[in-house]
Amino acid sequence: MTGTTDTSAISLRFKETFGQAPDGVWQAPGRVNLIGEHTDYNEGFVLPFAIDRTARVALRLRDDSRVRLLSTFGGQGLVEASLDDLRPGSGQGWSRYPLGVAWALQERGVVVPGFDLLLDSDVPLGAGLSSSHAIECAVITALNEVTGAGLGAEELVLETQRAENLFVGAPTGIMDQSASLRGAKGHAVFLDCRDQHVDLVPFDAEASGLVLLVIDTKVSHSHADGGYASRRASCELGAQVLGVRALRDVGVEDLEEAAGVLDGTTLRRVRHVVTENDRVLQAVELLGAQGPGSIGHLLDASHASMRDDFEISCPELDLAVETSRANGSIGARMTGGGFGGSAIALTPVGHEQQVRSAVVRSFARAGFTEPDIFTVTPAAGALRLA
Ligand code: GLA
Repeated sequence: MTGTTDTSAISLRFKETFGQAPDGVWQAPGRVNLIGEHTDYNEGFVLPFAIDRTARVALRLRDDSRVRLLSTFGGQGLVEASLDDLRPGSGQGWSRYPLGVAWALQERGVVVPGFDLLLDSDVPLGAGLSSSHAIECAVITALNEVTGAGLGAEELVLETQRAENLFVGAPTGIMDQSASLRGAKGHAVFLDCRDQHVDLVPFDAEASGLVLLVIDTKVSHSHADGGYASRRASCELGAQVLGVRALRDVGVEDLEEAAGVLDGTTLRRVRHVVTENDRVLQAVELLGAQGPGSIGHLLDASHASMRDDFEISCPELDLAVETSRANGSIGARMTGGGFGGSAIALTPVGHEQQVRSAVVRSFARAGFTEPDIFTVTPAAGALRLA
């Protein structure tokens, strides 16, 4: 079933599992972030896009408060829960995402009846492409519709964030779900994370003779682990010492003065966020004026900043980036929260094969697990399929 947008297979499997046809089928995409990393929770700027890989859910409301969940992956079997018993921390594995979303909607006062749900996804799990947000966004889009809650995209973004932060326990920002819910084919999502204002920026790599390669290092990461939270804490400390609401309010021109009052580590964390915000703004301007071929140097600078100042890269990500650059990519960087996951490499079509082979060879030589390498293009955000 994986990899198709044909809804008959998921509907049939739903009927076989739960005995009745679903009320509908919804999908939501994963994302890559072109640039703007760890800027979202600093009320800054990000430039992700929704990718052509999606989570799909078939869902049917029940007339009691039971939830029954099954996925085509993850080997968890049928998961059963009662909506009356949901508490932060309930559930395991992928089932935390649909349960977390149902919990967040209930907390907000939406009456959520029980439901049966079948989930399928071709967003690689743990690859830093927001497979978890794809699930959450597909489920919240479905529940928003079938319950008649009628929440707008900005509210859905905040509810999925609450599910992640409070129910799953990952202190993440709003970038991933904004890309998944608000993405559009052929466009990147330029998001101001302070007020959720979105501008869709055309991103047509193909027309510029480029592809965007994703290199999944297979190094797994979890944003519920300490690394992400400690970076966030450093940013909050930096903002507090500098006397601003969020690091969004610090400009590149303020960094010299900041160096006089911040300790060394906090200064480097702050410098990453401040320069990264600036790079996002530059990227948006360049994309508008000259297209995707003009932002390579910004991707490179972003990676260096995450490697050296924010310290969230890892040897596999660095090797993927360096090897891509040495073999023809015009810019490359890790994407997502870091500590593993994927790199992206903006690559001329004629160099794609060379980059792929060189990265696979360099990983083998270094004794790393073979990476998975594929292309992505900007695709539509969450929608109802049937
Ligand atoms: C993860 C989080 C996002 C964002 C990125 C880093 O993907 O879910 O909110 O903070 O890391 O840019």
